[in-house]
Amino acid sequence: MSKNAVQRPSGRGRFITFEGGEGTGKSTQIKKLADRLKAARMRILVTREPGGSPGAEIMRHLVLSGMGKLLGPEAETLLFAAARDDHVRTVIQPALNQGAWVLCDRFADSTRAYQGSLGSVPIGLINAMQRVTIGDLKPDLTIILDLPVEIGLQRAAVRRGTGAPDRFESEQLSFHHGLREAYRKIAAEEPKRCVLIDANSDPDTVADRVWTALRERLLPATASVISA
Ligand code: TYD
Repeated sequence: MSKNAVQRPSGRGRFITFEGGEGTGKSTQIKKLADRLKAARMRILVTREPGGSPGAEIMRHLVLSGMGKLLGPEAETLLFAAARDDHVRTVIQPALNQGAWVLCDRFADSTRAYQGSLGSVPIGLINAMQRVTIGDLKPDLTIILDLPVEIGLQRAAVRRGTGAPDRFESEQLSFHHGLREAYRKIAAEEPKRCVLIDANSDPDTVADRVWTALRERLLPATASVISA
């Protein structure tokens, strides 16, 4: 079998989320994984949060511009939840029902890490919002990209160029260290769903690690074997 050969499962699609702090390379890795899966003739939808649907993109603008912060941590969290509600209902769930594999740049773990662990929003409130917005929809696999904070922030600064840092990029260094710890904790607490991937290597090496995790977790003995 070639490097891209996979066994294609049938029925409902699979929901794969990517998580990590600033500059960990999520979008690069999502693109590489999408290319690999498409080469294996899988039906793929790439999306992101906050955003991913017309309604949620409006909310994205509100939170990343810092306007949500002015309302306080709970209300800012509600904006993320409202965006997720629209995104799940209008984009993610329909795609999964049609058999597509959905690759999502950030999802509910971002709320747990950014607003829960670091934003001091009580976990009870976050869980309640999660029940309303996503119900039983749980990612089949969550890839958490792990990288030393200083390297991630440096990468984010290069990517930004002369543009201003957004609402979260401009947080203190201690916030970003806390974020890394919060994600490591999520990975340790939910080992069946989450894989912590060392992202401190060149993009192709990291992509191979992601691919190995995906094959081990989601492409076991199923339907027809296809090669790309
Ligand atoms: P984005 O420009 O997409 O950044 P990144 O490339 O790091 O994903 O900005 C999304 C920001 O929103 C990011 O800093 C994380 C934050 N965020 C939350 O705080 N809570 C959430 O629930 C989500 C989805 C994102």
